[in-house]
Amino acid sequence: MADLRTSLGRLQLPNPVLTASGCAAAGKELSQFFDVAELGGIVTKSIMLRPRSGRATPRMAETPSGMLNSIGLQGPGIDSFLAHDLPWLRERGARAVVSIAGRHTDEYVALAKRLYNHPVDLIEVNISCPNVESRGQVFACDPIAAGRVISAVRRAAHPNVPVFAKLSPDVTDIGLIARAVTDAGADGISLINTLLGMEIDLDTLQPALGGVTGGLSGPAVRPVALRCVWQVHQTVPHLPLLGMGGIMTGQDALRFLLAGASAVSVGTAVFHDPGAPVRILRELNAELDARGFSSVTDAIGFAHKSPQQQAALRTGVTHPVSV
Ligand code: FUM
Repeated sequence: MADLRTSLGRLQLPNPVLTASGCAAAGKELSQFFDVAELGGIVTKSIMLRPRSGRATPRMAETPSGMLNSIGLQGPGIDSFLAHDLPWLRERGARAVVSIAGRHTDEYVALAKRLYNHPVDLIEVNISCPNVESRGQVFACDPIAAGRVISAVRRAAHPNVPVFAKLSPDVTDIGLIARAVTDAGADGISLINTLLGMEIDLDTLQPALGGVTGGLSGPAVRPVALRCVWQVHQTVPHLPLLGMGGIMTGQDALRFLLAGASAVSVGTAVFHDPGAPVRILRELNAELDARGFSSVTDAIGFAHKSPQQQAALRTGVTHPVSV
């Protein structure tokens, strides 16, 4: 079977499948279905400085091939996270990728400082949540605002902890935003967050979500996510990418690696198949093997190479190739 090891900046991972932020709090709920240490990592729900109750209900709505959420960054706050959730993850041997979110740059900085002396493996800076009070808070829609948050977090965080910027697909040129956060010191990029959407309930003749708009995820967004990973890899080919958006199978995960992701996050799939991350990891291993990839690292960005370059790289590969 393929060598599944990969890395996200200086963080070495045993395999490239992680959970996605927001779909299973800090991982406890999933531990009844699989050993959380089996995955590349657990990405937590975005943590804020203070406990937060989130948006009005209803907060979820099903759409064709997708799901809308309007949670509003509900969570226990950093004190509770550090007291309970982070120790729980460490005790189980899971790699802890901590997602942080703030209303202003200062709040992101305060969160990075609070995490400084704790055993965190990577900080994912959520600058792209669509469910905030004003679009002005979606820092990832503006290259200057995005760069400002990332450079401040990079300065405040422990130097050994990689800082990833989580980007939104709701922009005209995602390469521009990727370049801005890279110049600001991001060690990598997570993409994509959900797309802003809405649904109308035909019984009430009202918006289906209490917050009116919400973030669309699931298979419906996978081609958008794949396109974003492709474009960002072209823009900043040296930067590690954590790809996500509608990944339901090992084949989906492989496509993200081929587009340039070094690892993938599985989110919406866990709502109907809580064991999806480990299933997808198993399937990915078989898909790599079936295509003659002896390692994950060989597959990263492979679709960017011409057929001639691909053939040259495969010299010496003994498996039949049937991509
Ligand atoms: O509403 C939410 O909590 C969603 C967060 C996100 O998509 O980043």
